[in-house]
Amino acid sequence: MNSLRLPCTANWYCEAKSIDDVSEALMFARDRRLPVLILGGGTNLVLAQHLDGLVVANQLSGRTISRDRVELAAGENWHEFVTEAVRQGIGGFENLALIPGNCGAAPMQNIGAYGLELSERFLSLDAVHLETGERVQFGKKDCAFGYRESVFKRRRQWCITSIHLKPSSELRADYSGVRSYLENNNLDVSSASIYQAVCDLRRSRLPDVSRQPNAGSFFKNPVVTPEEAAGLLGRYPTMPSYPDRQGTKLSAAWLIDYLNLKGEREGGFSVSGQHALVIVNDRNGTYPDLRGLVERIRQGVAEEFGVDLEIEPVVYPD
Ligand code: EPU
Repeated sequence: MNSLRLPCTANWYCEAKSIDDVSEALMFARDRRLPVLILGGGTNLVLAQHLDGLVVANQLSGRTISRDRVELAAGENWHEFVTEAVRQGIGGFENLALIPGNCGAAPMQNIGAYGLELSERFLSLDAVHLETGERVQFGKKDCAFGYRESVFKRRRQWCITSIHLKPSSELRADYSGVRSYLENNNLDVSSASIYQAVCDLRRSRLPDVSRQPNAGSFFKNPVVTPEEAAGLLGRYPTMPSYPDRQGTKLSAAWLIDYLNLKGEREGGFSVSGQHALVIVNDRNGTYPDLRGLVERIRQGVAEEFGVDLEIEPVVYPD
């Protein structure tokens, strides 16, 4: 149930198909003082070998897609929603095609790709408090979205039950890979052509999770001060860097690649030969293997560039 295929067992497990199921599961955990892990698609998750608590698989279903508003239950598959929206000619989500996982996890790390972040299309979400069972609606500000961050990822206190989004006719084709794909294939800019570009780019650049279990980007792209970036650019003139709200964003993939770490292995885990930011479980890897590899990568990057790489997926227990 986790895309990194980490072997992990939990004391308790249940599937929630309704909000009442969620409430019942939370009450069960509260009575026994069990920690709770809400499991979505399991595609952005690092699990230790044992979970001492209750896993609640969030399988809430239902979606309404209209030109003004989209409502998605947390257990709906994200990519299926994007595909259906594009098919109905409803734009604003095409850049986020093929992101694995379920809709409830989308706000957790504020999913983003090819020039668009979920927060830009976000209206509100409904959630249940894990300890009190209280049902609360969160507006955009309450979510404290950042780059692959939100209040839900920082403090694991909520079970997201549904998300509400705003379609948009604004098309984002400015990401260089998307732009060149459209030009090379003689395609006009449309929701459908951006969707096609993003799907093709992701399929060609990222390892296929069904053959090489992975959790997408394993590290965040580090953000440094403009002064630090200028110093690094002096030493590494080909290093990619992008202006960002908080400073200057560097490419973690480039830093790892520069150290020739593609293919680097610890037990069953290795750095993908296809994309340096993806760690794949290609030989029945274990949690200690993964930790060993991650520490070597972080140490290498810190020693060479003086940059601290932050893990992107959610780690349980944290
Ligand atoms: N690069 C390398 N070596 C590689 C791969 C990339 O040097 O093996 C360099 C290239 O210079 C490239 C640059 O890294 O131009 C950026 O690569 P890419 O366009 O693949 O984007 P990324 O910064 O590595 C981010 C997201 C991805 C998202 C892509 C596209 C993060 C942590 N990752 O990756 O999101 O799909 O942009 O927008 O921000 C995910 O979060 O799981 C994820 C896949």
